Parts: sequence; C-alpha cells; structure tokens
Amino acid sequence: MVGIVGFGKMGEAIARGLLKRGIEVGTFDVSVDRRDLAVKLGVKVFESNVELVQESYVIFLAVKPQYFNKVCEELEGKVTHCLVVSIMAGVKSQRICRCLGLDRVVRVMPNTPALVGEGALGVSFCGDFTAEEKEKVLELLEVAGVVVEVDESLMDAVTALSGSGPAYVFLFLEALEDAGVNLGLSRDVARLLALQTLKGSVRLFEEKGGLFREYLNMVTSPGGTTIRALKVLEESGFKGLVMDAVEAAERRAKELG
Ligand SMILES: NC(=O)c1ccc[n+]([C@@H]2O[C@H](COP(=O)([O-])OP(=O)(O)OC[C@H]3O[C@@H](n4cnc5c(N)ncnc54)[C@H](OP(=O)(O)O)[C@@H]3O)[C@@H](O)[C@H]2O)c1
Repeated sequence: MVGIVGFGKMGEAIARGLLKRGIEVGTFDVSVDRRDLAVKLGVKVFESNVELVQESYVIFLAVKPQYFNKVCEELEGKVTHCLVVSIMAGVKSQRICRCLGLDRVVRVMPNTPALVGEGALGVSFCGDFTAEEKEKVLELLEVAGVVVEVDESLMDAVTALSGSGPAYVFLFLEALEDAGVNLGLSRDVARLLALQTLKGSVRLFEEKGGLFREYLNMVTSPGGTTIRALKVLEESGFKGLVMDAVEAAERRAKELG
C-alpha cells in the first residue's frame, strides 16, 4: 500500500491518480473532514500516522513544512522499511533523514496542475536507490503529471519555475483578458480567447516540436501587428522581468529552506 501522511490538496491529488491506476492507498490526516473525504474516495483511513506507515511500502510526506517536526515526533525510526517521498517545499533531504532516522529520501516538487494529473514535477533521489526503486517511484509520480529528475541543488530552481509557475501563467492570462476588455470585448469572450490561445499554442508546439522562437516568428510578419506588440514588450524588458521574477522566487525558496 502507498501511504500518504496528510490528506490535503496535494495528498488528495496523488491519491486520486494512484486510485485511478488501481493502486491501494492509505492515509492519515489530523482533520476529520479530510479523513471523511478520503473514505469517500476509497482511500483506507488509519487512526494515526504510526499505524499508516506500518502497512505502507511507500510513504508520501504531504503535510505543510511547519508540521514536519510534529510528524517526526510520531515517526522517527518507524519508516526505515519504506521508500519515503517528501513533497514538502523547501525541506532539505539532510533534515528529513536526520529527523526520521533515514539514510535516503526522495524529494519531489509538484505544482497545482497535479490536481488534474497535469503537473510538472521535479524529483531528486537523495541517497542510494536501486534502478528498480527509482523506476517504482517515477511510476507512482507519473500519475500526477510529467516528472523530471534533477539534482537536489536545483530543487529551488524547480520550485521557482514550475512550482510557482501556475501563478505566472494565470497572471499572464488575466492580463490578456483585461487587454481584450480594454479593447471592447466582453469579459467572457476575452477570457475564452485568451485561454484557447494558450491551449492551442501549447498543442501546436507539442505536435510540431522545435524552439519557442520559431513559433514567435511564425506570427510575426514584417511591418505587421505582432511585431508592434513585441516591440512594446521588448522595450519594457518583459523577458528580463520574467527572469528576475523567477530568480526572486528561487532566492525566497533558498531563504525558506
Ligand atoms: N499546493 C501547492 O501548490 C504545492 C506545490 C508544491 C509543493 N507543495 C507541498 O505539498 C505539501 C502539502 O501541501 P498542500 O497544499 O496539500 O497542504 P494542505 O492542503 O494544508 O494539506 C496538508 C494536510 O495535512 C494535515 N496535517 C497537518 N498535520 C498533520 C499530521 N501531523 N499528520 C497528518 N496530517 C496532518 C493538514 O490538516 P490541517 O489543515 O487541519 O492542519 C492538511 O489537511 C506542502 O508541504 C507543500 O509545501 C504544495
């Protein structure tokens, strides 16, 4: 059984994906509401984290980082038989291993699209894992989306790019929506056009491949409308601003770590 410590938004997302693949899932959450929801979804609910880990071969640590110490008080020395996978943002493998009495741990940084199985996940295998163990963990994580393996030293970069990334994407979509409204389109129509433009562009890129720049050029005819817009964005330092923003997020992830 795969055990999930903390059945919040992310715990639920992982559970839903695993259940869809017919994998048995168990959990414990301090909140009665979350435990009730887990039961409804077909997740086995335990009376405590200790009972949960006794029956699990893989354990997902899915509580907020500030509750990690409490979890350690309960589980120190009791998860050595499990593959432990932490999705806690910013909590380093060294600390997880020290607090739980482990010599290895898998760290994962998911993002909110994992809630619909379309997440972008960074994973670090911290310590020694066999090829089979890695494959098993990757297989479990793929229920939540696309998984990329990175060194733990790059986990803050993953946090800044894809962990926080949905916020950048939605801000851009909102800006496009407002831009349409500014030009007289109704909000509903502007939202639909903005969203479909994003979806269509992603689909086009996924089917044809190549570089993002080629697709920029595809819509930029000489003396046309798009180049006028791109000129404004370039003059305002749009790209540099995005890079600075992601760098600021990375700095903050390091501070929190
Ligand atoms: N949401 C994201 O976009 C995102 C992205 C990347 C990584 N993460 C990471 O994913 C983890 C979970 O995030 P989330 O958004 O799913 O948080 P969440 O919704 O707050 O879920 C955590 C759950 O754990 C419960 N809990 C607290 N202490 C517990 C304990 N000792 N034993 C069992 N359950 C306990 C909480 O109950 P109470 O609410 O009653 O305290 C809550 O239901 C975090 O570490 C976060 O850093 C989240």
